[in-house]
Amino acid sequence: MTIELENTINDENIERLVRTFYPSVLEDKIVGPFFIEKLGSDISSGKWEEHLVLLSQFWAFTILGDEAYTGHPLAPHFEIEGISREAFKQWLSLFYDAVDKTYTEKIGEFFKTKSADIAENFMRKLEI
Ligand code: HEM
Repeated sequence: MTIELENTINDENIERLVRTFYPSVLEDKIVGPFFIEKLGSDISSGKWEEHLVLLSQFWAFTILGDEAYTGHPLAPHFEIEGISREAFKQWLSLFYDAVDKTYTEKIGEFFKTKSADIAENFMRKLEI
């Protein structure tokens, strides 16, 4: 199968990135349980759908400056018991895989740099 990699960033491919990433998160032994605890294990549930839409808006805000996202990115992470540096490392590794499946290397760099910076910032604030 030939995969068409995107060399521009828009709402449609951001949503595709998000919908590629979270199913892999759910299946992951390290990161999956944190999400299952909060949102359950059925990616097609209403709770998950809300999360996927919210996270698509978050990335559109972060990368494109789109104003639909008005949430508090860090806040829910304070409530995740047992969240660790190891979990963040794994989150990033899965995110990079999803980025590589969606974007060309050059475009993917925007997402990789940004996600790594945000993860560092979260870990510092969470004191982990
Ligand atoms: C081990 C790493 C992580 C875990 C386990 C994790 C888990 C979660 C969970 C369980 C939620 C709450 C879902 C809900 O109640 O609706 C959430 C929300 C969110 N996460 Fe993460 N997350 C991680 C890392 C990250 C990183 C690195 C980013 C950004 C690059 C991020 C961005 C967000 C955003 C934007 C929200 C929604 C915040 C809002 O309510 O507006 N997360 N995350």
